[in-house]
Amino acid sequence: MRIILCGFGVVGQNLVKLFDSRSEDLYAKYGLKPRVVGVFDSKGSAVDQSGLDFGKLVETKKKFGTVGRYADTQNQMSGKDMLKEIKADVLIETTASNYKDAEPGMTHIISAMKRGMHVISVNKGPLALAFPSLLELATYNQVMFKFSGTVGGGTPILDYAKNSLRGERITSFAGILNGTTNYILTNMGTGVSYDEALKDAQDKGYVEADESLDLDGLDAAAKLVILANWIMGMKVTLPDINCTGIRKVTAEDIKKAAKENCLIKLIASCNKELTVSPRQIPDDDPLCVNGTLNAIAFTSEHSGTQTIIGKGAGGMETASSILRDLLDIREEIAGD
Ligand SMILES: NC(=O)c1ccc[n+]([C@@H]2O[C@H](COP(=O)([O-])OP(=O)(O)OC[C@H]3O[C@@H](n4cnc5c(N)ncnc54)[C@H](OP(=O)(O)O)[C@@H]3O)[C@@H](O)[C@H]2O)c1
Repeated sequence: MRIILCGFGVVGQNLVKLFDSRSEDLYAKYGLKPRVVGVFDSKGSAVDQSGLDFGKLVETKKKFGTVGRYADTQNQMSGKDMLKEIKADVLIETTASNYKDAEPGMTHIISAMKRGMHVISVNKGPLALAFPSLLELATYNQVMFKFSGTVGGGTPILDYAKNSLRGERITSFAGILNGTTNYILTNMGTGVSYDEALKDAQDKGYVEADESLDLDGLDAAAKLVILANWIMGMKVTLPDINCTGIRKVTAEDIKKAAKENCLIKLIASCNKELTVSPRQIPDDDPLCVNGTLNAIAFTSEHSGTQTIIGKGAGGMETASSILRDLLDIREEIAGD
């Protein structure tokens, strides 16, 4: 399967490491032979129609800071040109999420779909701003559009609701979808101030370069958009979410909640409204997970409420969600 990989950061590099370490059993078990024919980052690109060497890609990125130095001569093909000229079956989009105009991911995804490539995105930006139209574009161009890693990292939250609860009618859901803010609120629960807890999260590398994505609830809201569209069949985008982050949560709020045997968590919910806000919930509620964990409770008509808990991020975890999507595409193509 020929692949173009957009972005070669934490997730992109973990993905090629995963391909490398699993190449034999992926072929033996699933008949999948991933051949990465093009990769680009913000500074350059590497192309080889016969398949780029996974180890060399990672080494090149480590040594020079860009895959553009993969070959002896620096490759100047831009990402846009690669998507126009290089033949591939699947585009994997792993550039940074941006909620202003969703670029450059939006252009990558649209170009690939128009050329008849299947698309896997872990980048939430394009889905948060244009989920309904991207799904239409995929249908129009008869390509598959997969995005398991956008919600829950490697924890299969979307697959669980869509496939394991098949036939059920999910009436509502609520969850903790951002590990960074959960880490900060968990620490505040031990008596640490907001500023100290934020500093600790920053020191550990948990906070996005643009801290507003975590602290103002944008990341959680983007995931809520994806869930609402994919699981509930709504046609919504980021402006439809009522969103409040955690900046105004004080040590006093946390103490007051504790007196009532409750914790304050940043909850993304879909009930009558789509809302992200800090809320007080009983400390024995299964949603009350600690640290960077994510948790989501789906309530359905006949099966009651079920909570799924897992790590919401991580380079290798997210790479494994891309692999799941790739196997789904492989299976569907083989089925056709
Ligand atoms: N990390 C996680 O745990 C996780 C989990 C779920 C979803 N995600 C999503 O997955 C995506 C990738 O995450 P990450 O952690 O791998 O981020 P990252 O380490 O920051 O990597 C982003 C990559 O995108 C490249 N890039 C940025 N602007 C570009 C442009 N204009 N043209 C071409 N390439 C460009 C960067 O290039 P340079 O290398 O040259 O800077 C880098 O290689 C993000 O959208 C993130 O929200 C991440």
